[in-house]
Amino acid sequence: MMADSNRRKPMTAPMVAARKGGQKLRMITAYDAPTAHIADRAGADIILVGDSVANVVLGHDDTLAVSVEVMVHHTAAVARAKPSALIVGDMPWLSYHTSPQDTVANAGMLVRDGGAGAVKLEGGRKRLPMITAVLDAEIPAMGHLGLTPQSVHSMGGYRVQGKEAQAAYELISDAKALEDAGVFAIVLEGVPDVVAQLVTDEITIPTIGIGAGTHCDGQVLVFHDVTGLGAGEYLPKFVRQYAQLADDAVAAIESFFADIESGAFPSEEETYHMPAESEAILHKLSNPSDHFLADEAMEHRP
Ligand code: KIV
Repeated sequence: MMADSNRRKPMTAPMVAARKGGQKLRMITAYDAPTAHIADRAGADIILVGDSVANVVLGHDDTLAVSVEVMVHHTAAVARAKPSALIVGDMPWLSYHTSPQDTVANAGMLVRDGGAGAVKLEGGRKRLPMITAVLDAEIPAMGHLGLTPQSVHSMGGYRVQGKEAQAAYELISDAKALEDAGVFAIVLEGVPDVVAQLVTDEITIPTIGIGAGTHCDGQVLVFHDVTGLGAGEYLPKFVRQYAQLADDAVAAIESFFADIESGAFPSEEETYHMPAESEAILHKLSNPSDHFLADEAMEHRP
């Protein structure tokens, strides 16, 4: 394979941390090799193998359905694309809730078997012992605060978080605690813009927003939402769709089917042919009265 001279320097967690207040961070999800290739070609700094794979790829109603094994499977597929972007593997629900030991073992699987360069965990001070254990095992960790989808049941649905002053204050305190613990960046999801702005101003590591306004140090969206590759499900108001790939794919497949029906597919250029001499022998072989001639022809082949 030819060396790609346009290849960017591989992104690392410390490089992400150093972007605080600088060029905005570009993060997008990907779940397999083709989506990772596309995200990387577009210049992603960070590819998140999100547990949103449960909804957008595997057809579940929420993210609670995926296990560490499923996340490793998808992270490894992304890693095989060898992106320059930093690969962040999402830790699924219950993989970091029971003990620091289990958390390190699970995070280790995302790194060792999945090829992630960092992991992401939802939650604030409540999760500090697990986050600290991951960091102590030399695995870079990204935080995730605000509307944390793994807490869908305890939040009573997917609701914007930090709308009340006290809740916003708690969220800012969580962000500071995560920073003190040593995470390299924090995703802020589904929070009022002023709360995201306060967090961004208060901490020295980057914030990456999703439904958190414009003041964050970067933004993230789900691949299938940005590209219109989803199955037509409800889109939150913070999503901007830049393409309609599902519609394009339907049109492409409809054209293929129409060409099957009309006989326009496959064409001469899309068809394999036998050497003429072999074809002549084959025709004789398939005609019993010509078997003798076919044997003769094969014997006298050069
Ligand atoms: O799983 C995911 O896609 C995420 C992003 C929405 C941040 O966690």
